[in-house]
Formats: sequence, structure tokens, C-alpha cells
Amino acid sequence: MSKAQEMGQQALNWVDERFPLTSTWKAHISEYYAPKNFNFWYFFGSLAMLVLVIQIVTGIFLTMNYKPDGSLIPGTNISVAFASVEYIMRDVAGGWLIRYMHSTGASMFFVVVYLHMFRGLIYGSYQKPRELIWVFGMMIYLCLMAEAFLGYLLPWGQMSFWGAQVIVNLFSSIPVIGPDLSVLIRGDFVVSDATLNRFFALHVIALPLVLLALVVAHLVALHEVGSNNPDGVEIKKKKDPKTGIPLDGIPFHPYYTVKDIFGVSVFLAVFSAIIFFAPEMGGYFLEHPNFDPADALKTPAHIAPVWYFTPFYAILRAVPSFFGTQVWGVLAMGAATMIIAALPWLDKSPVKSIRYRGPIYKIMLTLFVIAFIGLGILGALPSTNVRTVIAQLLSVIYFVFFLAMPYYTKIDKTKPVPDRVTMH
Ligand code: HEM
Repeated sequence: MSKAQEMGQQALNWVDERFPLTSTWKAHISEYYAPKNFNFWYFFGSLAMLVLVIQIVTGIFLTMNYKPDGSLIPGTNISVAFASVEYIMRDVAGGWLIRYMHSTGASMFFVVVYLHMFRGLIYGSYQKPRELIWVFGMMIYLCLMAEAFLGYLLPWGQMSFWGAQVIVNLFSSIPVIGPDLSVLIRGDFVVSDATLNRFFALHVIALPLVLLALVVAHLVALHEVGSNNPDGVEIKKKKDPKTGIPLDGIPFHPYYTVKDIFGVSVFLAVFSAIIFFAPEMGGYFLEHPNFDPADALKTPAHIAPVWYFTPFYAILRAVPSFFGTQVWGVLAMGAATMIIAALPWLDKSPVKSIRYRGPIYKIMLTLFVIAFIGLGILGALPSTNVRTVIAQLLSVIYFVFFLAMPYYTKIDKTKPVPDRVTMH
């Protein structure tokens, strides 16, 4: 050992006697044994962490120049908040890049998280013993939706203002507490400067803290039980009798750190291409009416949420108002999100992975994907009678996928699951 190495080892020993650095590194990274058959679908957990970091870092820099102030600049119809975003885009050095990273990051967060969740569906990753990983994941997802919704008000453009108006008004349709609840959320009887200030506070500090805590809980739960894999085989059941290491496990570092770095590289190439060549993504990542300053007297012709909310928005619009209240649509939309959290208890299949499931699950999952994407498309378009009927049909398919699951997963013919993971 050279002198420098010796000093390094001594420093490490000094730290280890006071803080579990080496043991934590070993337990969670270098001696954490993950299944050796991870595939494409296993890129998205680490990518979600990357996007979370990007959002926090770019968010900090945006906050340095953004002003949450809805008051109008004298002699104009432009608010201080809107103008501060324009200032970031035009005058702050690198400001445009930081803002486009943040706005693109918001959409990419949902792309990554939807793919990450879909992996759970195809490999049954939510099944016993991973129910809590899924439940923490769902809490992350709800928190992420709230975070995106709050952030969207901040530029104080037309869509910020009217989108918030529509969504907060939904709360007022809840019986008894609704009207007071919507005033509490807005801090006013209309969307106003008070709303902007509280959304800012929640967006920049409250929800990011909750999100970070939930991600830690998600990963702690994951490392307690270990990862699932594309075969849905529990690798802990077959261990080397001498070392106690799972026979189908490989150390996370260096094997999966290298794999994840590859995923990160491809992701960053796509992410950069969007930022530099199509930051608005045809109006899907940054909606066109949001380039106009908020105007309380001028409703945009077509109010639609950003693409990642549109499947649920389509369900909301598909439900007619009975007894003169919109609350049924609101309940259906709430149920559509919450029911995903119940998957671990709805799925009665004896196998996890789609590789060994029967035809019924495969058909149901395909129909579910078609319904989800179809609803997403319909939710972005203005509604017509025909579109409403299609949205109603797709909403029924959406709910049948979940509600009939205990039945069809029980009767579905499954294939035998191998003892060990397979490598094709
Ligand atoms: C900020 C958002 C999230 C982050 C940073 C995150 C992070 C991770 C990471 C790093 C892993 C391990 C690597 C991998 O399996 O890809 C993982 C696994 C998992 N995540 Fe997430 N996750 C997030 C959101 C979600 C959501 C919304 C759900 C579902 C509702 C979810 C469900 C799961 C499940 C079931 C696993 C275990 C998968 C398996 O072992 O097959 N996660 N997550």
C-alpha cells in the first residue's frame, strides 16, 4: 500500500468508526445483490431519480429570478410573475436553458414514471412481498401530480390561470365541505395573487420535501425485500449455501451502475434533443395559450390540462352530471387514480410475470393500455358527442381492468414458472 492509500484508508477508518459509511455502501450498492436478468424496463427507476435531481437543481436556479407576484405592471396587462419568467428566458444568462430543462423535465418525469409503473404491471412487481413499494410509489405519483399542477400556475399565463380555475372549481362540487375547501385552496374567492403565493410555497418546498421522503421510503422498502425481475422469480429462494449470496444475484455495483449510466446517456441525448429542438413539443410540453399573460376576463377557447393529466381529465368529462352536480365525474377521476394503488390486492394470479401469465391477462392489459392512451388523446381534444361516447366506453374498460381483476386473474391459465431466472 502506498503512503497515500494508507492515509486514505486511515481517513475512511476514522469516518467508519463514527458513521456507517462503508457498511451502507456495501449493504445498498456494492454488496446489494440484484437479479442478473434486468432488462430495458429496469432503466426507469434510476432515470426517475435523475429527473428528480434535475428538477430540484433547475428549480433552485429558477427561484433565484422568478417572482410569485400576480399584481400587474402599471400600464400593462402583464403580471410581475409572467414578466419574471420572460426575464429568465431573455435576460438571465442561461436562463432559457434552465427553464426549458425544468419544463421538459416535468413532462419527462411523467414519461419515465408511466413506463416505470407499466413495468410493475407486466412483471407483477407490486405482488407480495412488494405491496408497500407499490403503495409508496402511488403516493409519489399523487405527490408528483400535485407538484406539476402547482408549478403550472406559476408562470401566470392564460392556461396557468384557467387550468387552476377549472381544477380548483372541481373541489367546490364536493358536497358540504366543497365550497369552503375551494376557498381554502385558493386563499380567495377567485384564483388570485394569494393563490399564486401559496402554490409557490407548496411547489418549491413543501411537496419536494414530501417527494424526497417518499422516494427514500420507496427505496428502503425495495432494499428490504429485494428487486423483482422479468421472470418474477424470487432470487432469495436459491442462495449459495457457502456465501449466502443469491445464485441469480449480481452486485449492484459495478454491474447495474454501468447499466444505469448507459440508460442515463441515452436519456440525456433524448432530453437534450427536446430542449434544443422542440422545447414546446408542439404545445404538449408547453401549451400555446400559456405564452399569453393571464387574463381573468378572457377565457381561452379550449382549456386542456398538460398531456400527463389528460387520461383522468377525459374520465372526468365522460361522466354526465346527475342531480345537477358534477361531483360524479370528480369521484370517477379520483377513483381512477386511487384504484391503481389497490393492484396488489386485486391481482390474484399465482404468477407475477407476464411471461407466465395466461391469455386473459394479456388481453386485459392490452385493452387497458389502449383505453389509457385513448383517454389521454381524447382528454387533450375539445369534447364532441361522439368523443364523449368513446371516452365513456374507454372509461368502462379502464375500470373493468381493475374491478374484474380478482376474477380473471384467478381463472386465467398460467404457465409453470422456472426455479431460476432465465436469460434469453
Ligand atoms: C420519483 C419517482 C420514483 C422514483 C425516483 C423511483 C425509484 C425507483 C428505483 C430506483 C427503483 C429500483 C430500480 C428499478 O426497479 O427500476 C424502483 C423500483 C420500483 N418502483 Fe419506483 N420510483 C418512483 C416512482 C414509482 C411509482 C409512481 C411507482 C408505482 C406506482 C413505483 C413502483 C416501483 C416498483 C413496484 C418497484 C420494484 C420493481 C421491481 O423490483 O420489479 N415507483 N423505483
